[in-house]
Amino acid sequence: MSVPIVRTLAELRSIVAGWRREGAKVGVVPTMGALHQGHLSLVEAALAHSGRVIVTLFVNPKQFNNAADLAAYPRTENEDAAKLAPTGAHLLYVPNAEEIYPDGFATTVSVSGVSEGLCGAGRPGHFDGVATVVSKLFLQTGADVAFFGEKDFQQLHVVRRMAKDLDIPIRIIGCPTVREPDGLALSSRNVRLSPADRAAAPKLAATLFGAARKLAGGADAAPVIEEAKAAIIDVGYRSVEYLELRADDNLTLLPRADRKARLLAAAWLGDVRLIDNVEVAPEI
Ligand code: PAF
Repeated sequence: MSVPIVRTLAELRSIVAGWRREGAKVGVVPTMGALHQGHLSLVEAALAHSGRVIVTLFVNPKQFNNAADLAAYPRTENEDAAKLAPTGAHLLYVPNAEEIYPDGFATTVSVSGVSEGLCGAGRPGHFDGVATVVSKLFLQTGADVAFFGEKDFQQLHVVRRMAKDLDIPIRIIGCPTVREPDGLALSSRNVRLSPADRAAAPKLAATLFGAARKLAGGADAAPVIEEAKAAIIDVGYRSVEYLELRADDNLTLLPRADRKARLLAAAWLGDVRLIDNVEVAPEI
């Protein structure tokens, strides 16, 4: 069975109103398309929590700080719809651009604190774009619960903060990162890696997991991080944009893992920017 595609807000609202009359709980999985198994795992989680599931597909120009990156972003609506068909998702919302940013649109949702540093430092304006579009998608769908991947861990924090601060009545659920058998975190950017870079790519995750084990044992972060950065460069990454230990609950920088933490990294392989993060659960 194919998934119905809706492109206007009026039609979306009328369908959701019908579901509400039936008493259904509504889940939403926001995406920019180029769906992979990571997205499908979010749809699966959404179906387990909600009677009706909306997947949104909108390549949001406001969250790209680089025009070339926006132009290179894959647009694969037909393939995405085909991948969703067997999942049981109830609706694919592919808003026309004017449903999200109509003429005269002048509002930006900007979250401070958790959006600063990490990806926020390397991609100025990115999280304003994310918070703006996600707040619109929450309000347009009127969903009760939303699903985001932990792979974009900082984004998950930004979205939680935004929904809480704006009193949007939605529960946010973070879902574990899905990985290739060799450990590489799934990302729509992985298809842009050359064969040689694809072979080197899993070293980022392997290094993070190795460093996380040392940090969980109580090691100081600075030397572990320096060693991890060198290992990533050694295997062929062009540069490490950041590699930091942060508190799991509010992303403050930590000198050691004296509470539940995350080790987060962004690194460049050729002209592809990959991000990943792993949990650090202190042993003591
Ligand atoms: O994670 C993404 O794909 C995007 O940042 C999101 C949440 C769909 C907003 O455009």
